[in-house]
Amino acid sequence: MNKDIERVLISEEELALKVKELARRVNQDYAGRELLLVSVLKGSVMFAVDLMREIDVPCEIDFMDVSSYGSGVKSSGVVKILKDLDESIEGKNVLIVEDIVDSGLTLSYLKELLLSRNPADVRICTILNKPERRKADVYVDYIGFDIPDEFVVGYGLDYDQKYRNYPFVGILKREVYEKER
Ligand code: IMP
Ligand code: MG
Repeated sequence: MNKDIERVLISEEELALKVKELARRVNQDYAGRELLLVSVLKGSVMFAVDLMREIDVPCEIDFMDVSSYGSGVKSSGVVKILKDLDESIEGKNVLIVEDIVDSGLTLSYLKELLLSRNPADVRICTILNKPERRKADVYVDYIGFDIPDEFVVGYGLDYDQKYRNYPFVGILKREVYEKER
């Protein structure tokens, strides 16, 4: 175990089971339709590819990079588009794939932006959700795990770009980031 991790919150096995469960729901809900996964860089990449492997409706993937966090742990509330989608989403069934919904500010902005481009549908799927921290009123269609208000890393999630490679979700020791929070 890495010295910076307080404890494992969600194991690799639990994540894999949950991804399959979410994919089953997505497959049912989108039966007979085509799907465009919009993976929000960089945190959602692991989840997005794991989810995509389990999806059995015709499916494309595109990537968007937005930032509300800088390098630290505090939401600035400012959403910047660092990379936009490659293709038009007009008429498409869009499923935004996120690593974590925290304040919800990023997603509520992103959902409004994508809705303004005339897609058929926009839904949101996140592997992690921190309900206690919500500031924006945004409906999340598919949620993997509700987690407590702790700063977590792994399975794509970072602190200062580190720890994304861990296959589990772990609580980061406070001493690693407390200067900032
Ligand atoms: P929101 O706009 O506050 O919902 O921020 C969502 C984004 O903040 C996520 O996509 C993450 O990149 C980042 N984030 C929020 N909470 C955590 C956490 O506990 N660990 C790592 N990143 C987090
Ligand atoms: Mg992120």
